[in-house]
Amino acid sequence: MDPAPKLTLNNGVLMDQAGYGTYKVPAQDAAPLVNAALSLGYRHIDTAALYGNEEGVGQAVRNFTEAGHVVREDLFVTSKVWNTDHGYDAALRAFETSMQKLGFDYLDLYLIHWPCPDRGLFVETYKALEKLYSEGRIRAIGVSNFNREHLEELLDAASVVPAVNQVELHPWLPQRDLRSFHEANGIRTVAWSPLGRGALLEDPVVREIAGSVGRSPAQVLLRWHVQAGHTVIPKASSEERMAENLDIFSFVLEPAHVAALDGMDSGRRTGSNPSEVN
Ligand SMILES: NC(=O)c1ccc[n+]([C@@H]2O[C@H](COP(=O)([O-])OP(=O)(O)OC[C@H]3O[C@@H](n4cnc5c(N)ncnc54)[C@H](OP(=O)(O)O)[C@@H]3O)[C@@H](O)[C@H]2O)c1
Repeated sequence: MDPAPKLTLNNGVLMDQAGYGTYKVPAQDAAPLVNAALSLGYRHIDTAALYGNEEGVGQAVRNFTEAGHVVREDLFVTSKVWNTDHGYDAALRAFETSMQKLGFDYLDLYLIHWPCPDRGLFVETYKALEKLYSEGRIRAIGVSNFNREHLEELLDAASVVPAVNQVELHPWLPQRDLRSFHEANGIRTVAWSPLGRGALLEDPVVREIAGSVGRSPAQVLLRWHVQAGHTVIPKASSEERMAENLDIFSFVLEPAHVAALDGMDSGRRTGSNPSEVN
């Protein structure tokens, strides 16, 4: 299996283009599943305070490095500050809680999970992330679920351009406008629910392409993402699926297949519209 390429963030930090997502991974399963992911070759793990599994994620990462399989610097772990912890002081406290649970000396990437525009606190929250970044506690900072208008407001006030915006993105919701804005501003796009929470695996266009290229529907979707330059963080509960989802770097989708997947844009979301989450 070809390893995931490392993409360079706007501050020079490297991030694997494929990671393992842990939303809905129960706390008690997090350590064994993350250990399985690392053993299969994943080097990028996505968690969040909301997911309630930071202890298990941290334990697996620490065990894997302490066993000498890799050095900590080879791994990339993301966590996120939850909506109820917006505000400067609250975000600083939330970070310490996450770090205690993870058991790390530093975090690779810390994101504001949702902008919560009605709260009006995302700029202040981001200032806390900038402070932690300037102190070397976090290697990169960014946001999640920011629409263009939220990013514009943030960029007006920020000293550090977010390294990443992690957003819902898949062929039903390709986020073309937002991706162009990211490109123009040096912000990497990370796709959450890259498989549409599994629903896209049944789509006839995806299944037909999968049949014709001899790959699984999940691999076709994830390959579409990485060819467009997105980072993907699919979640899976079995080693077989985890391995399948990482084995996407040794084949290429031809332009006609990419065009067919591009043509699936329907605006359909599997999650909430960020403007409506508070
Ligand atoms: N920032 C945010 O607000 C946000 C929101 C949502 C998600 N995320 C992140 O993005 C990650 C991925 O998103 P997601 O978990 O919502 O959805 P997803 O990765 O698009 O889809 C996960 C679903 O697809 C199934 N699946 C995975 N690989 C498969 C394969 N090879 N064959 C068949 N089925 C497969 C999984 O089933 P099993 O689990 O049963 O194997 C699961 O039901 C999350 O885990 C989280 O880290 C972030």
